[in-house]
Amino acid sequence: MSFTSMVSKPGWGLALALLLTGAACEHDRDVSHGATLGNAPLPLVPLGPTPGPRDDAAVARNPFPDDAVTRNAGRLYFLRYNCAGCHGDHAGGGMGPSLRDADWIYGSSEAQIFDSITQGRAHGMPAWGTKLPDDIAWKLVTYIRSLRTDHEPSPPDQSLPREPVP
Ligand code: HEC
Repeated sequence: MSFTSMVSKPGWGLALALLLTGAACEHDRDVSHGATLGNAPLPLVPLGPTPGPRDDAAVARNPFPDDAVTRNAGRLYFLRYNCAGCHGDHAGGGMGPSLRDADWIYGSSEAQIFDSITQGRAHGMPAWGTKLPDDIAWKLVTYIRSLRTDHEPSPPDQSLPREPVP
């Protein structure tokens, strides 16, 4: 049986094709995969988003003025989006940490507070970025930064006991 007549028979042709494909794969593996994958150093770049404050210089800016209209809107959103449910009515703390004391886990700058709200924080702070437009997040920032200042909207009645701080 000659080579051409073997190949022309369906069964032999298939066997030959498989043989050739198999050989090609073996060759590929040796040269391009096997030699590099095993010993290649793993990249030390973190994969995916990592929690915590951002350290890049290009931070977003609050587009709203720090005025009574913005602060009041922020207070309204704080109640409406149930931030108060975790942080307390006047953000004095509850299941979530107090936002009106001087201690900040993730930073007190406008950009850092914005990040806390939009990106969430590791230990139980939901990421609101997919739920709230940036405008609302910035108004919340303005409100939060007005806490304990003279122009805080509807400050807690000082004659009542303070909210418990965890
Ligand atoms: C399900 C409960 C929950 C809700 C609702 C919630 N938070 Fe939080 N928040 C937390 C917890 C818990 C932390 C602390 C996270 C940590 O330590 O990693 C936190 C952290 C924060 C921080 C950072 C505080 C710091 O010390 O750096 C800010 C700012 C904040 N929340 C604002 C808000 C705002 C604004 C809303 C409403 C849009 C909100 N949170 C809704 C639970 C909540």
